[in-house]
Amino acid sequence: MKRVLLVTGGGDCPGLNAVIRAFVKRAYQEDKEYWEVLGSIQSFNGLLKEPNEIIELNPKVVSGIHVRGGTILGTTNKGNPFKWPVKKYDGTVEIVDRSDELVKKCQLLGIDAVVNIGGDGSQRISQGLYKKGLPVIGIPKTIDNDLAATDFTFGFQTAVQIATEGIDKLVTTAASHNRVLIMEVMGRDAGWIALYSAIAGGAEACLIPEIPYDINSIMKMLDKRMKGGKGFAVIVISEGAKPKDGGVSFMKNDEIGYQNIRLAGAAVRLREELKAAGCDLDIRETVLGHLQRGGTPIAFDRVLASQFGVKGFEMVKNGEFGKMVSYRHPDIVSVSLEEATSKMNFVSLEDNLIKTARGINMCLGD
Ligand code: F6P
Repeated sequence: MKRVLLVTGGGDCPGLNAVIRAFVKRAYQEDKEYWEVLGSIQSFNGLLKEPNEIIELNPKVVSGIHVRGGTILGTTNKGNPFKWPVKKYDGTVEIVDRSDELVKKCQLLGIDAVVNIGGDGSQRISQGLYKKGLPVIGIPKTIDNDLAATDFTFGFQTAVQIATEGIDKLVTTAASHNRVLIMEVMGRDAGWIALYSAIAGGAEACLIPEIPYDINSIMKMLDKRMKGGKGFAVIVISEGAKPKDGGVSFMKNDEIGYQNIRLAGAAVRLREELKAAGCDLDIRETVLGHLQRGGTPIAFDRVLASQFGVKGFEMVKNGEFGKMVSYRHPDIVSVSLEEATSKMNFVSLEDNLIKTARGINMCLGD
């Protein structure tokens, strides 16, 4: 008998359940050896807790879950075993390393393989645990699509679809009121969600982290558009976008163990900058936020997630540890975790999408 532990870590993402289902279904096809598939609740928390919170994943449990958003295992972005926050009696927080304990716990429970389904942060954890001797593989997920070692991550296209529907809705109200509507989308330091949705929705401007914007360039676009008789405009802005002479917009976050900068306020800041530059149009902003991560995955993401789940099982079966599943069109391959965590995927100015955006007169703020 072989025992595998599945973990979903970091922010949730449409398609996680489809990965879990595909992995379990594939594991149960084996007849020469029985594979027991377990799931740790709330990332590694379930494993490290006493008593632990680990559930059995079998075909009955995973039946039909591919259409459901979120993750049936739960997740957290505060559960890094290498930097585990412990709240002390006096209210202060101490950061401790529980990675050795985690590896030992897996050995005690007879776990033959760990499958860590997560984004860049989770895969860095996978790599660290692998170096400590844990037989682990990674399965990439993120709506941000910011991992260079895979063409796409599942969840991204669903987020793009949701953002595009947002633009479609904003266009009708912007046109009715003769307004400038700014829509802020997620993506952290990568502008993929913004760029794809802005092109799909026909936005007039798209501001991404990779191209710091000049407010005068947006003012010029608005002026030209208004003089041309169009009384409205839609601007898509990434949460991580920044002006030429400034940094990202963020908010304070007191959540214990949260290690990221909490990006917020890019759209509001842009409105204020446009007003300060003399824009006399009505401006409103919409922050799509977690709507982009919620709900049912679109077909593309269900398919990619299922491919990742099946490939993940094959890798575990073949003992390909220290590696991550990757989509290299049209194949699903594996890459070393080291490679997977060494490079991020940001929008390059040479990318065809940038050329396309410019080719359809979209203002990119430069
Ligand atoms: O990485 C996915 C993501 O949704 C980013 O696009 C966003 O910046 C971040 O997570 C939000 O994190 P949280 O769910 O902790 O607010």
